[in-house]
Amino acid sequence: MAETKNAAKSITIEDMAVFCKKKGFVYQSGEIYGGLSGFFDYGHLGSELKNNIKSEWWKFHVQQRDDIAGIDGSIITHPKVWVASGHVGCFEDILVECSKCKTRYRADHLIEDALKIAADGLKKEDINKLIKENSIRCPKCKGEISEANQFNLMFDTNVGPIRSETSKAYLRPETAQLMFTNFRLVQENARLKLPFGIAQIGKAFRNEISPRDFLFRCREFEQMEIEYFVHPDKANDCPLIKEVLTHRLNIYSAEMQQKKQPHKEMSIKEVLDKKIIKTQWHAYWLATEHKWFISLGADADKFRIRQHLPDEKSHYAADTWDLEYAFPFGWKELQGMANRADFDLKQHILHSKKDLSLFDEETKAKVIPHVIAEPSQGVDRAFLVFMFNSYNDDKERGNIVLKLHPKLAPVKAGVFPLLSNKEELVDLAESIYLDLRKEFPVEFDTSGTVGRRYARADESGIPFCITVDFDSLKDKAVTIRNRDDMKQKRVKISELKELLIKLIRGDISFEKVK
Ligand code: GAP
Repeated sequence: MAETKNAAKSITIEDMAVFCKKKGFVYQSGEIYGGLSGFFDYGHLGSELKNNIKSEWWKFHVQQRDDIAGIDGSIITHPKVWVASGHVGCFEDILVECSKCKTRYRADHLIEDALKIAADGLKKEDINKLIKENSIRCPKCKGEISEANQFNLMFDTNVGPIRSETSKAYLRPETAQLMFTNFRLVQENARLKLPFGIAQIGKAFRNEISPRDFLFRCREFEQMEIEYFVHPDKANDCPLIKEVLTHRLNIYSAEMQQKKQPHKEMSIKEVLDKKIIKTQWHAYWLATEHKWFISLGADADKFRIRQHLPDEKSHYAADTWDLEYAFPFGWKELQGMANRADFDLKQHILHSKKDLSLFDEETKAKVIPHVIAEPSQGVDRAFLVFMFNSYNDDKERGNIVLKLHPKLAPVKAGVFPLLSNKEELVDLAESIYLDLRKEFPVEFDTSGTVGRRYARADESGIPFCITVDFDSLKDKAVTIRNRDDMKQKRVKISELKELLIKLIRGDISFEKVK
């Protein structure tokens, strides 16, 4: 499969930002004051969609499994957590500055834009060399670029009424650490035995040098993360591996990248047999995360998993694979999945002097579990995936159709009286609307022609539209229209609610509706 096959088809990220603002999905934060770079506010439809993404993720990863427990940790925690985790010491990007206009750039981004090469993970010396050798200048004013400097990405703040070095604390740059610091309590409370996971959804903050690509790289964002703990000797012993062995996905190993080969579609079995992915648990989680996106309507072949190159890995990672998506601005990381081994638990044992080991019944010895896979998903990036995946500029209809999975759609149904000046139609439609909205979000629309109302509903991603006409007054039935193919069926009002619930859940397809 050609690497950029799917990358060019969609609208641009700038057009997506315009669409999101127009329809009330996402706005620039503080726009009336000129906006604050890297911060966004979700509007009515956007907050519904975002909540649906999070709730589907939580159901799939926590509520429908018995090996994962959830937490909701604080955004500001003890500052020593971030010393132990290594973030205070080395959670840094490399920064350069234009000596003329003083614009600051993330050095790897500047190089990537200028030379069209991957520059993530390059060292300071390499960056200085590349800038010098290629005479890279400031893209804004062509000024000279400064020597590279390290820049810590954590936002700091003060806790309590006195501001001093000792009151300094940090807004969390990832949710992950709270899963390690609460590891012992959660394991005991939820009576979990290895292998098990702890999951969390919540805000994270990074003072990104150059936030860009709309929601893709912001300074305040949300993460959905799992720390999955396994016995250190059982990284290759995953009882769930059978669920994914035949699952196929695009693989882009470090070796393929070094040999300049394209990614290749393979089954998980093949990937494990050839030792491309070294442990069963890592392979299981990579496939499971891909399956989650597909289960919510995303196109399977727009994803690939890419292994980090040796100099690209984070300070804590033994091996890392990213789940990437073919965004219109190229293949980009959607989810990071690092093998953190026992790095974090050991660090917290060292710094807190608390025992975070578990007693192994088999060997009758204490063990420090390993995190072989840490599925770490950005909510805002998942939001972008579902928006790009569902966006269709339908030339025949003459409007945008947002083909969101009904489970994700912000509003599940639209209810329209055929004519808005006929009281009996409006009354019946309103009573249906009031009844349906007890179960899920519904829109009641009486303005303009029915065609215009369908178009508005398509653009908001509403999967089902219900029209009340004159026949409805006699036969107590309504017309239900399917967004994706515009097919219509006649349904009894008494059966409407139950039918819609089944359609939204995916228990029945529209085709099968009698
Ligand atoms: N706990 C591991 C961790 O935080 P990461 O790769 O730095 O790993 C995980 O981040 C995910 O969080 C990314 O794959 C991405 O989806 C999301 N993310 C990270 N930085 C982001 C940013 N500045 N804006 C939006 N999402 C971001």
